Amino acid sequence: MGPNRMPRRDWLLGTGASLAALAGSANVATATALRQPEVRATQTQSAAEGEDADRARRMKWWHEARFGMFIHWGLYSVLGRHEWVMEEEGIPVSEYELLAKRFQPQPNAARAWAKLAKSAGQKYMVMTTKHHEGFCNFDTKLTNYCAPKQGPGRDLVREYVEAARAEGMHVGFYYSLMDWHHPDGARCATDPEARKRFVEYTHGLVRELMTNYGKIDVLWYDVDWPLDAAGWESQRMNKMVFQLQPDIIVDNRNGLPGDFSTPEQEIVAEKGSRSWESCMTLNDSWGYQRADDNWKSPKTIVRNLAECSRDGGNYLLNIGPKPDGSIPEESVRVLAEVGQWMSRNGDTIYGAEQCQVRHSEFAGFTRKGSTLYMHVHFWPGDTVALAGLRCNVKSARLFASGQPVKFDQERFRVRFTGLPSEAPDHPVTTIAIECDSEPIQDTGFVRRERPRNGV
Ligand code: GLC
Repeated sequence: MGPNRMPRRDWLLGTGASLAALAGSANVATATALRQPEVRATQTQSAAEGEDADRARRMKWWHEARFGMFIHWGLYSVLGRHEWVMEEEGIPVSEYELLAKRFQPQPNAARAWAKLAKSAGQKYMVMTTKHHEGFCNFDTKLTNYCAPKQGPGRDLVREYVEAARAEGMHVGFYYSLMDWHHPDGARCATDPEARKRFVEYTHGLVRELMTNYGKIDVLWYDVDWPLDAAGWESQRMNKMVFQLQPDIIVDNRNGLPGDFSTPEQEIVAEKGSRSWESCMTLNDSWGYQRADDNWKSPKTIVRNLAECSRDGGNYLLNIGPKPDGSIPEESVRVLAEVGQWMSRNGDTIYGAEQCQVRHSEFAGFTRKGSTLYMHVHFWPGDTVALAGLRCNVKSARLFASGQPVKFDQERFRVRFTGLPSEAPDHPVTTIAIECDSEPIQDTGFVRRERPRNGV
């Protein structure tokens, strides 16, 4: 078997098994002539290349998608004081458990989530199947603390999966390893028998999730307290996941690097070619928090999304449905406005390539080939200027309307002129700027070279 025919999971795990398989390959005749360390180096390199190619294949849709919806929903939604309420108010398990009966959502609430996601321009969804509280929103044979056997009386994850698919969304599952309810959830750190039981329980739940709902596109592990990757047996867990779901992508919160990084509540690009997704709340809470009125504006969301896109990342934006499953009105309002903007400007976000241009105090940037998209969020008036562009502008237009924009370019700046005094689009206006090569900005050049005079 040649390196390209290696079973996929062996590439992924880069295990001894994959190297052993290589050693048995047709390359061996020539390879044995080489010194051992060189053989190993070559094998490791081809294994890494195989792994990269496979990852690129699995992640293609996700890179194109750019924008996803995160959904935090569980027993904490009933209290409406954030998903950490159990720990942060020190609620005893026996008291918290009573919420399981009180959680009685409307049927198929997820349909409205999926419709809203679609209209917002989001292409995938990730829902909490089990958060830190330990309650399973799905049907499981492993605990009675799950939706079908408690207040909801049915499998909420199934409803979500069906709703998401009906709107053409890719389907993701969030799963918290940390568990505040299970008796072994903390003592697994110090009691070997408890660890074994809890790892079996955890792998068992993940197995059910990966088996019972058809094709799942994302597995989003969260908080690995109190164990590490070895303690969770994360290699074995991922191997099972990939066996059951060969096309899935997994995040990095089970102690292993996985396929992508997960900066939280901030936009921080990964170095090199590593994939990343910034997850963020619409207010300050993931789970429903009735009194949290600190909503981000549609403008902030559009700016954040464009910033992720500029740096090659994804944006996973959260909603925290109420206990009945309905979406807080303010979330609906913000996402609807973002969706309207995306319907006019989405082509400057989806499929955008990494963009080096970034210096402006009133605009952000994305890029496709040699076209620069300047996303102006604080509209300066009839002239919009940009410094240090090291390429020639060929033409410019307002992206949404297609209306041509006049410009003049000098050595240190380009100015777009004759524009309306009020912003033509809301909450952000996009100017498409055609250049003669990939747009690169050098503000250092401006600072050093711009002629000075006098003292
Ligand atoms: C943190 C929080 C959690 C939330 C998650 C989303 O890990 O513990 O409540 O689900 O971030 O990224």
